[in-house]
Amino acid sequence: MDIENIRQYVDDRPGEGVFRVHRDAFTDPKIFELEMKYIFERNWNFITLESEIAKAHDFVASQIGRTPIIVSRDARGNIGAFVNACRHKGATVCRASAGNAKYHVCPYHGWAYDSAGKNVDIKDRKAGCYAAAFDAGNHDLLPVARVGNYRGMIFASLSPDVPPLEVWLGDMRTLLDISIDQGEQGLEFVPGRSTYTFRANWKLQLDNALDAYHLTSTHTSFMDVVARRRKGDGHQEARQYDWGTRGEAVGGMYSFANGHSCTWADQPERTKRPIWPMIGAIRERVGDVRAEWMLRLRQLGVFPNMQINDAAGVILRVIRPLAVDLTEMHSYCLASKGESAEVRARRLRQFEDFFNPGGMATPDDTVSYADVQRGFSATGFDWVDGYARGTAALAPDNDLSRELGLKPGASAQGVWNMFNEVALHEPYREWARMMEAGLAGKKAFL
Ligand code: FES
Ligand SMILES: [Fe+2]
Repeated sequence: MDIENIRQYVDDRPGEGVFRVHRDAFTDPKIFELEMKYIFERNWNFITLESEIAKAHDFVASQIGRTPIIVSRDARGNIGAFVNACRHKGATVCRASAGNAKYHVCPYHGWAYDSAGKNVDIKDRKAGCYAAAFDAGNHDLLPVARVGNYRGMIFASLSPDVPPLEVWLGDMRTLLDISIDQGEQGLEFVPGRSTYTFRANWKLQLDNALDAYHLTSTHTSFMDVVARRRKGDGHQEARQYDWGTRGEAVGGMYSFANGHSCTWADQPERTKRPIWPMIGAIRERVGDVRAEWMLRLRQLGVFPNMQINDAAGVILRVIRPLAVDLTEMHSYCLASKGESAEVRARRLRQFEDFFNPGGMATPDDTVSYADVQRGFSATGFDWVDGYARGTAALAPDNDLSRELGLKPGASAQGVWNMFNEVALHEPYREWARMMEAGLAGKKAFL
């Protein structure tokens, strides 16, 4: 493959019903470097929820591509973001992942910065015999170009050349709203997060979150456990769904501009949804159409680094690529602020049962990613075909999208066990578009 002709890596021929991705996109370290530069570092990235930095001087440390950042609320209540690299010699100024600090003091030589990123102390400055040119210089932490807040979801971009956050999210906002509006006061993270790595390319996680096809094969041990519970054995509190026997339920996908995508399905066991006890009040507050969407299963991919899976509890995942074959995941349990202890407990039991390294599903997925990465190194294995299911069901929109007021770029609808893979087309189109713009020396967004 020829990197200069990056579009070749995504074999996208809608007229012929062909969509394939070349395996080098997952295995070539040179591609990985370009992804950091032209996708992650020139795009909005999800960072955290506003509720994590609710008070003055609260901060969260994160990463955009290869750049460590701090997102912080300053003394006046403004949210800012700064590169977490000391202006003296580049050491990590803030090593904690989150907290509250009026000042961040660099552990290497003690330069200090306030919660707005301003340099407030250079240790032993008077004795340092600095030249006037140094004194005239700016030594504040480098600001991150853009910080955006969509209804309590904080995103940041290292590049100033991105559309306004709301424009960039487009109609994906409606699907985020479906999650945000489940409680009257919006969302929060249940305290704590899970961090784990897998030995595979980050795009395998991008794919998996929108892929329901693997469920009935990868997670058979989980299915078996759930089947035994149906007979009354074992842990009943999770009220887990009967995943294996819902093939005829309605399901589909929507995708939107800028790489965002959603896979969804009707949920026949709606009484097991954590929000079920409040569904009457929810209907009154948001209307029947949105309440129905809250009961459906929804897997959202906000390109490139954030996923919300509202299926077994609600998980928010942040993807952090470390190398072409190594990825770090941060995952959080999302919950409505102010919900009752009973609902919170039900949500947590579902979540911990299924997700994260201690759950019964995530380890199966991450092992599969590592297997796939091994398969991609096979001689002669060039093209990945796993983007084909649902191609013949593609349509511009459908009744459900119109009812919700969505204008998707593409939709597909059928039975759940169509297990569409076409939700992945738009993320890979956006991948190719941004890579091509970068290689051509053009801005990512016009
Ligand atoms: S690197 Fe931070 S004070 Fe020297
Ligand atoms: Fe899975």
